[in-house]
Amino acid sequence: MNTNLSSSAPSQLETDCLVAVVLDRCEKDQSEKDKPAPSIECADSAVREAAREVISSGEVTGKTFETTLLHRPTGLQAKRLLLVGGGKAKNFSAAELRKLAGAAVRTLKGKNIRSFAFALPQNGVAAPDAVRAIIEGAFVGNFDPGYYKSDRNDKDKDQKIDAVTIVVPGDPKTLEGAMHAGRIVAESQNFARDLTNEPSNRMTPTIMAERAQKMASDVGLKCEVHGADKIRQLKMGAFWGVAQGSEEPPALIVLRYEPQGAAKNVHLGLVGKGVTFDTGGISIKPADGMEKMKYDMAGAATMIGVMRAIALLKPKVKVTAIICATENMPSGKAQKPGDVQIAMSGKSIEIINTDAEGRLILADGLCYARQLGCTHLVDAATLTGAVVVALGYVNTGIFASDDQMYDRFANANQQAGEKMWRLPLDDEYKETLKSNIADMVNAGSRYGGAIFAAMFLKEFAEDTPWIHLDIAGTAWMEENKPWIAKGPSGIALRSLVEFVKGWEQ
Ligand code: BES
Ligand code: MN
Ligand code: ZN
Repeated sequence: MNTNLSSSAPSQLETDCLVAVVLDRCEKDQSEKDKPAPSIECADSAVREAAREVISSGEVTGKTFETTLLHRPTGLQAKRLLLVGGGKAKNFSAAELRKLAGAAVRTLKGKNIRSFAFALPQNGVAAPDAVRAIIEGAFVGNFDPGYYKSDRNDKDKDQKIDAVTIVVPGDPKTLEGAMHAGRIVAESQNFARDLTNEPSNRMTPTIMAERAQKMASDVGLKCEVHGADKIRQLKMGAFWGVAQGSEEPPALIVLRYEPQGAAKNVHLGLVGKGVTFDTGGISIKPADGMEKMKYDMAGAATMIGVMRAIALLKPKVKVTAIICATENMPSGKAQKPGDVQIAMSGKSIEIINTDAEGRLILADGLCYARQLGCTHLVDAATLTGAVVVALGYVNTGIFASDDQMYDRFANANQQAGEKMWRLPLDDEYKETLKSNIADMVNAGSRYGGAIFAAMFLKEFAEDTPWIHLDIAGTAWMEENKPWIAKGPSGIALRSLVEFVKGWEQ
């Protein structure tokens, strides 16, 4: 998708469709009740005039995601005017704007429109933030997961937006940086969604490693890929315990970003769960819904995408990503309940349930990150069904061992407009890790399952400040939404990129 900035008056711009935001600046009526007062957020009076009639008809309320399309709007050079509702003016922020841009793209591409212009609303959101949000939302909205539909490349049917122009007040030059940054982040998010969307026969650990290597050479990152021999040589017994059951070789992928002038005392480590298919292993999952377990590598995809964005945005902070990629399969070689594995750190683990495999591979990933000298760790993983029970499909679960690090992350998360909710890591939960035969079990009671998994990981992050993101409920959109298609979401990428940038000296 081409991206442009224009300083033309919105009414004078020739485009297939001009998009304007409508907010509800609700007023009190005589009985002090809220009464909707839709307002077109555009300084150009000709645009407001073109929409006056449809607004006064009461058809447009400004409700979030309400869309109204006018043809040949009077007084405008645009062929169409699309009004997109953004909800109550007092609640409007860059996060809402991002979604509106996605909704505009999804509305227009469904009508075979290929290009449009978005009039920057001027109300509270600073212009650079608004430009970024619109670009990010537009790219996210343009992603279509129907990869293997045979008519996908049919020119008449491939519904995609080819170009977006943002109409800004003043000198567009001052906003080019924001547009560029938004584009890098959004394309990296779609890159992560692309990896996640592939089925497991087309996204094996080997293919994931090749994709990471290709990306690394495109953007100038160092990438190493290690196989089974190195995993065993590093004594990654927990990772290998999972990988040993599969015919597909595992991959340990290390991506390094080491800019000149970075602070010596900060080295961020990003660890991703890359289970390219999770059958559950010997503790096999039920058939119903098992096809979804192709997205059990979404955490890995997110971290690979974050590294892409970082390599292009170039913040001065050292970052290493460690991706543990494997299938989780039942076979004659698979680990079995009751088996004991010795993790890289030396701790022993009694395998109670082979379906609790994510925490095993991450245990060694976290330990390896510490060995490589990382001073702060973040992992992202589709780790537990229990986090979906706790938070549904709306919020990602965050766990943090260090309040200062959490504050930084929460700040970045706020900027990125992704919903996350902190869950506890009290010492009392540690009881449930106890094993009769080993240092710990890999699975315990059904209750507090997401917390148990996080407590397990904490044993391997040890005293290194660490954040764990359980994205099991948020990495895959269960339904189409106005701003994003059903399928992989690329969740956590934007927060992580913002978080990394926050450490820049
Ligand atoms: N990959 C799953 C978690 C998951 C569930 C991801 C739903 C996405 C959607 C994970 O490996 C798993 O199987 N977890 C088990 C752990 C249990 C056996 C302790 C779970 O949550 O049921
Ligand atoms: Mn599992
Ligand atoms: Zn899994």
